[in-house]
Amino acid sequence: MLSLTNKRILLGITGGIAAYKCAELTRLLIKAGAEVRVGMTRAATEFITPLTMQALSGQRVHLDLLDSDAEAAMGHIELARWADLVLIAPATADFIARITLGQADDILSTMVLATSAKIAIAPAMNQAMWADDSTMTNLNVLIDRGYNIFGPAEGEQACGDVGPGRMMEPAQLLELSASLFETGELAGKNFVITGGPTQEAIDPVRFISNHSSGKMAYALAAEAVAAGAKVTLISGPVNLPTPESVKRIDVITAAQMLVATHEAMKGCDVFIGVAAVADYRPVEVATQKIKKSEEQMQLTLVKNPDIISEIAQLEEKPFVVGFAAETNDIVSNGKDKLKRKGLDMLFANNATETFNSDSIVVTALTETSETELKPGNKNVVARNMLQLIAAALNER
Ligand code: PMT
Repeated sequence: MLSLTNKRILLGITGGIAAYKCAELTRLLIKAGAEVRVGMTRAATEFITPLTMQALSGQRVHLDLLDSDAEAAMGHIELARWADLVLIAPATADFIARITLGQADDILSTMVLATSAKIAIAPAMNQAMWADDSTMTNLNVLIDRGYNIFGPAEGEQACGDVGPGRMMEPAQLLELSASLFETGELAGKNFVITGGPTQEAIDPVRFISNHSSGKMAYALAAEAVAAGAKVTLISGPVNLPTPESVKRIDVITAAQMLVATHEAMKGCDVFIGVAAVADYRPVEVATQKIKKSEEQMQLTLVKNPDIISEIAQLEEKPFVVGFAAETNDIVSNGKDKLKRKGLDMLFANNATETFNSDSIVVTALTETSETELKPGNKNVVARNMLQLIAAALNER
């Protein structure tokens, strides 16, 4: 079964007769688990209506760069950051030429320029236009830039010619899109990831916690599976579905997270502590709801165990990766935590922007390096983080 679970695909439709196939393509992408948003050039709307694409994707279709209503809902830069994959299908010769030049004069070309996601284009044009030197030269430039070119297929064309230039069938485009996320670079590796917040009870109805949503940890878990790893996700209370093929262990408190983490360590190659573990817990948990009879109340707190530091001190320790969400001096505080906790790598990020957000800006730190990752949505950044981890594992 082809999976695009949780993948965010921005389908860009340009003006060619094959645009009608995008209805079926959207249906297949969504069936495979993807969330699809659609952008269209004005020429594309001559071949298939935005209303059709809106009905199929369940989302408003993006048509104009300077549309204040659309920008208020999800602006083009936000959309470019949101995507895991920008799939241009069909891609006309004209559109290919414009993105080769780096033009940004409509919504689709702008998003191609602005995105840090994977880009795939499915060319569709007359066979003579396809064979033309200009198109071939443009294509080679795009291949050098790392774009994925899906097709074209050969056969009878709408204009009556026969040859290469037909857009690939939706089922083939689905298969190729899914294959982009299966890197295999972590094949055979066992990952243990903590994520979400912990909750430390004060009484039966109140607790101490934080704003972690679990999005970053769940994105890493899903991407690690796509890269071939076996993943155990030890999760605090969050509202997210379990990514496909991930073994999820639910915990509530830091103490439970510590026990579950130690139990999962056998055979672990990489431990990633994404969880925002509560640093303190109440010394005593009231058995009855505390009454608000006093003007002031005092809670005595005790420090929670530091899970990642314990893992980093194990005799047979995995590759240990931490996170640090800081409000100030992000990189220097991150470096301090990397050293103090004995970690192999740490992703420092801005606490005021990261908690519960779909996107993240991070600096990857090791003892000897400092790398700023391209900002983007958590799925895209997770993939870049895993590439760094895979490279570090290969160097060991
Ligand atoms: O969940 P999201 O909404 O997607 O948000 C993501 C995130 C902000 C939670 C994530 O990007 C992040 O930065 N997580 C770490 C939060 C943090 O600042 O933790 P810390 O500075 O308290 O801890 C540093 C490291 O030690 C972390 O790897 C943490 O998991 C670990 N730790 C901390 C305390 C503790 N008792 N045990 C630990 O293992």
